[in-house]
Amino acid sequence: MSRQGFYFYTHMLIQTVFKLNRTPVWLMRQAGRVLPEYRKVRESVKDFKALVKSPALAAEVTIQPVDLLGVDAAIIFSDILVIPEAMGLNYEMKESKGPYFPKTVHTYSDLKELHVSQGEELQYVLDAIALTKKGLNGRVPLIGFAGAPWTIFAYMIEGGGSKTFSKAKKMLYTQPELAHQLLDMITKSTINYLKAQIKAGVDLVQLFDSWAGILSPEQYDEFSMRYISMICDAIPEAPKTVFAKGAFFARQKMNDLKCEVIGLDWNMDITESRKMMPSKVLQGNLDPCALYGSFDSIKKETKHMLNLFKGHPHIANLGHGLYPDIEPDKVRCFIDTVKEHSG
Ligand code: CP3
Repeated sequence: MSRQGFYFYTHMLIQTVFKLNRTPVWLMRQAGRVLPEYRKVRESVKDFKALVKSPALAAEVTIQPVDLLGVDAAIIFSDILVIPEAMGLNYEMKESKGPYFPKTVHTYSDLKELHVSQGEELQYVLDAIALTKKGLNGRVPLIGFAGAPWTIFAYMIEGGGSKTFSKAKKMLYTQPELAHQLLDMITKSTINYLKAQIKAGVDLVQLFDSWAGILSPEQYDEFSMRYISMICDAIPEAPKTVFAKGAFFARQKMNDLKCEVIGLDWNMDITESRKMMPSKVLQGNLDPCALYGSFDSIKKETKHMLNLFKGHPHIANLGHGLYPDIEPDKVRCFIDTVKEHSG
């Protein structure tokens, strides 16, 4: 596609999906966390998983940031870890600690206990999507999502969060064949899942590769990008966003992925990223910590970011998820600044 053709296509994409003539804005992890209204719903159920598995409540907290913060998109309330669970590896969400897997994968016999999941195995997410679409009534698009295979793999081997994910990385060096087999199963499950989400009504999908940044460039090609690329190729039905946190080294190659949008984290220089990924809509990338600043400082930082993206198709967002202790009014300040200062 010619450069002019590209600008036409990507601007059209923003216009057709978001139906806006300015830069759209939403925030990763906008559903929940900062809103007292979310905490109220969260306290009405046993735990996080109960909320994820209650379609009516999941739809309610998905729509909250649209009504209460004014974002231009909703993202379905769920978690990336529903895929390991559907494949046969149960997870628990420990209060204020994060995910924990009682069983992890280390051998071929562990692998035999898992299966490639079908989209319908996550019917509660599909039901939440259908209810959310009804509730949104066309006001804003709905984003579906999944973890990228490498990030899901990392949790399935490690068994929970980690600073290094050294157990997961160890398998890449000691049992690469086993690693590829599991990555392949996750990839197939993810394709089934995203196709089902699109059928249920989501308008675009995002892949979160939260642990991209711990791999070397060569490992990233072999154990992550290859599988992300398979997913992008398999899903022509809807626009796709790839957000690979910390994968600054892979940006050039990301320009060749069959996806429309690339998410940038706040370490990725905007001017450099525009040059490296001329064929992509770029999403991001304000440092989430910028929202701890004063209202004046948030406005200044946001306008600076918008200026650096000017002339390139852009969806405003943070460079990673919203932190739980950010004041809702600071989030509103970021959103309102984008709305007032982009065109
Ligand atoms: O963006 C949204 O608001 C939609 C919902 C959403 C959640 N998790 C809800 C959630 C999304 C898109 C995710 C993705 C997710 N989950 C990622 C990728 C994005 C990223 O942050 O890098 C990852 C790595 C996970 C795994 C996960 N889930 C962790 C590590 C934790 C615990 C720490 C934390 O971030 O709070 C969760 C729990 C979780 N997922 C919560 C929410 C609202 C908090 C739990 C609660 O409310 O009780």
